[in-house]
Amino acid sequence: MAILNILVAPDERLKQEAQPVEKVDAEIQKLMDDMLDTMYDAPGIGLAAPQVGVLKRVIVVDIANTEEGEKPNPIKLANPEIVAESEEFSVYQEGCLSLPNFFEDVERPAKITVKGLNEKNEEVTFEADGLLATCIQHEMDHLNGTLFVDHISRLKRSRILTKLTKIKAQLAKHKQQQL
Ligand code: NI
Repeated sequence: MAILNILVAPDERLKQEAQPVEKVDAEIQKLMDDMLDTMYDAPGIGLAAPQVGVLKRVIVVDIANTEEGEKPNPIKLANPEIVAESEEFSVYQEGCLSLPNFFEDVERPAKITVKGLNEKNEEVTFEADGLLATCIQHEMDHLNGTLFVDHISRLKRSRILTKLTKIKAQLAKHKQQQL
């Protein structure tokens, strides 16, 4: 159990393609658990391994609203693949732990069928719709070096990334002054 450091865009490591996992072994199980701890701590509803600097095809998701009394319902997946998607689309206002405090509408297939390896290295296939479908697609994008801002207009994207660059520069300056 550990809280990992979440990379904030712009960062070259968030633009790289992650590599498939050969087997969900103890090392990958630990990564999945640490990613879940990190996600709950943030807090967020999804996290992909590249966001913690690990270029492996691993995602974790939990859309349960525990503040409303729902029980945690974590999903841990390695090598996720979308094997079917609906022609119908839905729009959600998305955010991302790597783009803190920015939210934009993104359109994605409303319903998907996902295949992958669970934490026991078993192949699982399931259907997802609503927020879960959006969240899984958002996390899977990270495995291909894609951020939600890559789905919106170039103008909006550059505005967000410019602001984040400035915020990161200010934070770096503060850290230097503390030395
Ligand atoms: Ni994200």
